[in-house]
Amino acid sequence: MTPTNRMLVFASRPTDLVGPEHFRTVEAAVPDLAPGEALVRVRVLGIDPTQRTWLNPEETYISPARLGRVMPGSGVGQVVDTRNPSFPIGAWVFGMTGWQSYVVAREEMGIFGLNLVPPGVRPEDMLGIFGPSGLAAYFGMLDIARPVEGQTALVTGAAGSTGSIAGQIGRILGCRTVGSAGGDYKCRWVVDTANFDGCIDYKSEPLADRLVELAPSGIDIVFDNVGGEALEAALDHLAPGARVVLCGSISSRYRSRSYGRGPGNYMQLAFKRARMEGFIFLDYADRFPEAFDRLKTWRDAGLLTVATSVSEGLESAPSALAGLFTGKNLGKQLVRVAAQCAAKELSPW
Ligand SMILES: NC(=O)c1ccc[n+]([C@@H]2O[C@H](COP(=O)([O-])OP(=O)(O)OC[C@H]3O[C@@H](n4cnc5c(N)ncnc54)[C@H](OP(=O)(O)O)[C@@H]3O)[C@@H](O)[C@H]2O)c1
Repeated sequence: MTPTNRMLVFASRPTDLVGPEHFRTVEAAVPDLAPGEALVRVRVLGIDPTQRTWLNPEETYISPARLGRVMPGSGVGQVVDTRNPSFPIGAWVFGMTGWQSYVVAREEMGIFGLNLVPPGVRPEDMLGIFGPSGLAAYFGMLDIARPVEGQTALVTGAAGSTGSIAGQIGRILGCRTVGSAGGDYKCRWVVDTANFDGCIDYKSEPLADRLVELAPSGIDIVFDNVGGEALEAALDHLAPGARVVLCGSISSRYRSRSYGRGPGNYMQLAFKRARMEGFIFLDYADRFPEAFDRLKTWRDAGLLTVATSVSEGLESAPSALAGLFTGKNLGKQLVRVAAQCAAKELSPW
């Protein structure tokens, strides 16, 4: 019997928080495979804050998501039918699956297509530690922040997927690492499990005062995922020659083309001879293998730990995306699209 593809189609543009009302479920028979194609059953989706930026009508680093099309997004799945020997039945693949239960893999689509999960790697790790979060943490830290042993790094959004990895990379490279996160539970995880030297609960503690306590000589590296007040507090407490990594600005909620208010105190960058630089991890595609090898080495040596939060069912994806903007997740937010159908399959998914 031909399987049915269940798709979440982008139906209307949100003006603020995204929700299920902005998508509609569509079902259709999966297409017949052409030579070179393989049919993949999508198991798990990776949910990323940047997906909210794609829903705005304006161009960002990519074109906006198109109304009436399957919501774009990353995922992992297993080959269930194939006309391509590179994608044998049962193989795990990762990449831009979109919010749907089946997707067709073709070889020629590069980093925006589907690729085989390397041997010995849990498929879902290709969405987190070896996916956008780990790659952004790696290149943001190594190439933009350039850690120096003994310096102090502040990571905002430290209990999130990217922030938790960025801080741990800073520590591995010899920095004292301080995080900020929302809530006591998250801060305890950041210190006790992710081994940061300290964490400020920005929801209940005065961020500026705590920064002075935790970084008495000033902050050398700001790895900023949040923007807004957190960025301003960090700029007020920079050490001379500091590097400020503009990774994201989630406090803006990514709800309009302005992406939040810029820091009013940006002249601190001049006063402290500091540098602030933005980046998009995709620009480092030719160095993804280097990042994968190094992240895996650190992970295998027990130096890097990650958390995941999982929501159930394809239809939960919009709420899972919204949850990133209200702090529901600890670590990488995943959506389990479909349960395993056979015990012999490789992953716990
Ligand atoms: N430049 C790049 O190439 C690149 C690549 C990947 C990700 N990013 C950026 O990195 C950041 C983190 O992404 P992620 O995928 O790792 O997500 P994430 O950090 O796992 O999840 C988002 C977290 O943001 C925090 N947050 C939400 N609203 C906030 C607010 N108003 N103020 C402070 N914190 C808030 C919440 O944590 P709390 O509970 O602690 O508030 C939430 O758990 C995002 O800004 C994303 O756009 C950039």
